[in-house]
Amino acid sequence: MDVFVADYAGFCSGVARAVKKAEIAPKPVASLGPLIHNPQVVEKLAAQGVRPVASLEEVEEGRILIRSHGVPPQVLEQARAKGLEIIDATCPFVRRAQELAQELASQGLEIIIVGDPEHAEVRGLVEWAQGKAKVISSAAEVENLPQSSRRAVIVQTTQPQETLQAVVAALLPKTAELWVYNTICEATRRRQEAAVRLARQVDIMVVVGGRNSANTRHLAELCRNTGTPTYHVEKAGELRSEWFAGAQKVGVTGGASTPAWIIEEVVKMLQHLSESIKEPKTPEVGVERAEALLSKPNGEARDT
Ligand code: F3S
Repeated sequence: MDVFVADYAGFCSGVARAVKKAEIAPKPVASLGPLIHNPQVVEKLAAQGVRPVASLEEVEEGRILIRSHGVPPQVLEQARAKGLEIIDATCPFVRRAQELAQELASQGLEIIIVGDPEHAEVRGLVEWAQGKAKVISSAAEVENLPQSSRRAVIVQTTQPQETLQAVVAALLPKTAELWVYNTICEATRRRQEAAVRLARQVDIMVVVGGRNSANTRHLAELCRNTGTPTYHVEKAGELRSEWFAGAQKVGVTGGASTPAWIIEEVVKMLQHLSESIKEPKTPEVGVERAEALLSKPNGEARDT
């Protein structure tokens, strides 16, 4: 069984930057929500003194770390009013979407945000748009919208391009003047394209990342849509040998919040399973190939 790792698998520049900020911040420091959507990384950081909190109510003094998803402007104001030191790890791509939301709202435009209404980034964007934006998660929801003379569209940074394209296509007949700002970040686009390319060439795909990570779930969905059986796992211990019975080629990718060491553990486990399955087709080729691929720089290095 040959194991291939997709290009751009793992940490993006925004997540790597947030983790770095957390690591070098004086401790203790509170992070507003888990720093990234990966329980293993959050656990490691907690051991170093990074304490996740659900809201500012839980922090009376000291430092507050803003994660890469960003926060509504009111939260920043409250933190300042409390005299907290703010360590802002909002990803620059998210910051750009926030600035656009603010600017478009100040022009009085009707704003559509394409994304998951429950995601922290999207909830933040709604507030940057002065609470006036409407969140649409799929083209089907456009049916309920009335005709409009002018609308602007922005999009959650980790959404699939296909979702944005479908929403825009549905909005066009309902909008006289449609302004579209594609705020999907480059790292997401490249990771998704590489994952789909690999999924089309292998028998089984394994997508590694937190189950609470929206971008990892999107990756798994995109891979599944190619018709290739796809498994989403958080760590190597979840892999089952029966998934790979008869498979010649297995592809691996990881979400933006999946550290390289977890992807490496998954690849090693796949190599181990490959040996125990006793695949007749030169298993040592797969071992070498996976090792060579893992020695490449990770997605974060190539995204910057
Ligand atoms: Fe930023 Fe894109 Fe990562 S928005 S946090 S670089 S997935």
